[in-house]
Amino acid sequence: MHFVFLIFGIMISFLSIGQKKTIDQKVDSVLKLMTLDEKVGQMNQYNGDWDATGPITADGDKQNQIRKGMLGSMLNVTGVEHTRQLQEIAMQSRLKIPLLFGQDIIHGYRTTFPVPLAEAASWDLNAIQLSARIAATEAAASGVHWTFAPMVDIARDPRWGRVMEGAGEDPYLGSLIAKARVNGFQGKGLGNTDALMACAKHYAAYGAAIGGRDYNAVDMSLNTLWEIYLPPFRAAADAGAATFMNSFNTLNGIPATGNGYLQRDILKGKWNFKGFIVSDWNSVGEMIPHGFAKDNYDASLEAITAGNDMDMESRSYINNLSKLVKDGRVNMKLVDDAVKRILKKKFEMGLFEDPFKFSNKEREQHQWNNSENLEAEKSMAEKSIVLLKNDNQLLPLLKQKNIALIGPFIKGIRDNLGFWSYTWPDDSSRIVSAWQGIKNKVGSNVNLLYAKGCNINDTSHAGFSEAIATATQADVVILNVGEAADWSGEAKSRSNIHLPGVQEELIRAIYATGKPVVVMINAGRPLIFNWTADHVPAILYTWWLGTKAGDAIADVLFGDYNPSAKLPMSFPRDEGQIPIYYNYFNTGRPAKGDSDLNYVSSYIDLPNSPKFPFGYGLSYTTFSYSDIKLSAASFKPGQTLTASVVVTNTGKYDGIETVQLYTRDLVGSVVRPVKELKGFQQVSLKTGANKTITFHITANDLKFYNNKLEYNYEAGDFKIFIGTNSHDVKEASFALVK
Ligand code: BGC
Repeated sequence: MHFVFLIFGIMISFLSIGQKKTIDQKVDSVLKLMTLDEKVGQMNQYNGDWDATGPITADGDKQNQIRKGMLGSMLNVTGVEHTRQLQEIAMQSRLKIPLLFGQDIIHGYRTTFPVPLAEAASWDLNAIQLSARIAATEAAASGVHWTFAPMVDIARDPRWGRVMEGAGEDPYLGSLIAKARVNGFQGKGLGNTDALMACAKHYAAYGAAIGGRDYNAVDMSLNTLWEIYLPPFRAAADAGAATFMNSFNTLNGIPATGNGYLQRDILKGKWNFKGFIVSDWNSVGEMIPHGFAKDNYDASLEAITAGNDMDMESRSYINNLSKLVKDGRVNMKLVDDAVKRILKKKFEMGLFEDPFKFSNKEREQHQWNNSENLEAEKSMAEKSIVLLKNDNQLLPLLKQKNIALIGPFIKGIRDNLGFWSYTWPDDSSRIVSAWQGIKNKVGSNVNLLYAKGCNINDTSHAGFSEAIATATQADVVILNVGEAADWSGEAKSRSNIHLPGVQEELIRAIYATGKPVVVMINAGRPLIFNWTADHVPAILYTWWLGTKAGDAIADVLFGDYNPSAKLPMSFPRDEGQIPIYYNYFNTGRPAKGDSDLNYVSSYIDLPNSPKFPFGYGLSYTTFSYSDIKLSAASFKPGQTLTASVVVTNTGKYDGIETVQLYTRDLVGSVVRPVKELKGFQQVSLKTGANKTITFHITANDLKFYNNKLEYNYEAGDFKIFIGTNSHDVKEASFALVK
């Protein structure tokens, strides 16, 4: 009898879902039907059985648990067939609540885009948004609902392997890119079948791991947290990111996963975030080794109290949360709030209407080798390549008779994709190596010579003589070196970020032949290569560029694309300078220059300046900047100051320049950085052409967090800088008056 009523109740509720109710009402009507265990089930997420991105817990019973309503979401279940199979099982559960399928769609799915740090170097927000859009379209067609991206962690430490996943060191650029990526993933809205729910991660300050060692503790002032590390998260929340992921690290002694200040006070409180928060992989359980929780019962209590809604892979919630409620330790309201947030997203995704909406074989196939996506990928790759050096205009190359292609990456195929990319059976035929791209570009009149020279991390010089002989026969040499593709990424911290093995020795040996040498460096982070930077005439930073890497590289080498990218991170001269970033504080004893050692803040064995500064990147053409023209010497809150420069293309090629605006607040109630990026504009100029670039500055742009963490501007004197990178700038002064 009881059972009959229940079924009737479920039918009534689900029928009423179809009627004109708001999503919140629909959520409430489902919640009413749920047992405590079913609620906790919605807060539980397991890895699929096919792939893993963290330490696996053996569990042969997952399907049964889905059937029992003990699972709300799965990650790493790939492809329409698999997602459909598991969703069918969810449809056998009592309440038929659909599963959410999440996956790390970080820089593409089938079409792999440049690693996110490389994309950030483009400073091209539309292109970055398009890249995320395409990734979403492809993954959503394969049954994925939710990407664990964008990673919006600011990173000032290139030893940290995860710098490749983010947008670099700057909060302003990072915030704009966070917004572009959220908009790209979520498209026109979650109800559409080509939208992925975004997930801003890792909340928060994960990028500041001490010593650049992944998962390490983070200790920072609240001013730095608010000023540098939180803005991209705020931007993601404001852009409507459906979800957030918390992080593995402690922040000032409290694990992010159990951190109520971050999750309840800031994100769900001050920022009014309405989505849900997922833990990182086992980060609920990891509060035990952190020394913050005694056991999983305790960890669950800390996590839910602090605002963590879904437990990824630690099984803490599923095994303890119901008991915590029954023991009176957790208020049911907290569970209800978490479940509502999760169900709401499932409704917004349209999964209650059609749980298989994303599992569509035809759509999956249609997206398989989409030529438009590949074209967009090539374009993004071109925009990501940074020209670090080009003495005597060695680049672009002419199609000379004999070109030697040397180095461990020249014929690399899968290498081009970098960490967080997917392997497909036909990778070897669809990914374009540098060798193949150049071969396609130069045609049969050019003789391409090849020698590997050495492996990535060799100690042996055995391949050098062949490489030298090959170089000797050539008119020009292209040398492709770098770090292994899986040397940056999660758990890929390195204490030594010099070019690995004997690669720099190989460069010296080839350079000694007297042939013109172009070096291309593949990496997911800033590397150190001082000898090369000081001697070799032409250097391109080629990161991990994705499916069409070789085509993009060939376009740049031979001048079909004029490089326009700018570094989103400072490149150190040595690991000893790390953390290194352009927006540092002046100190009371600032050095006057790199050789000033007179009781100033400097190293006696190393300049303070980076090898290549934030915002740096050359073009085949040159740009000149006029002095800055200000609309006034001072302005008041409520008014707008305009600053303009005339930028002229003074070189021989058409080109794109990213004009960067920085300010410095000379005196503050807390000290301010020597420069802060406040704006940039990309301008495309034909050779000989010029354009006036105008920036508008208001008092709001000059706000910062004072020592009470109030966000406001302070009247006083400012400097303004406009230029081609954070170092080479024109300068002017203005005042903000009351
Ligand atoms: C990573 C996350 C990722 C998750 C799921 C974790 O180890 O830190 O960035 O989204 O695994 O793959």
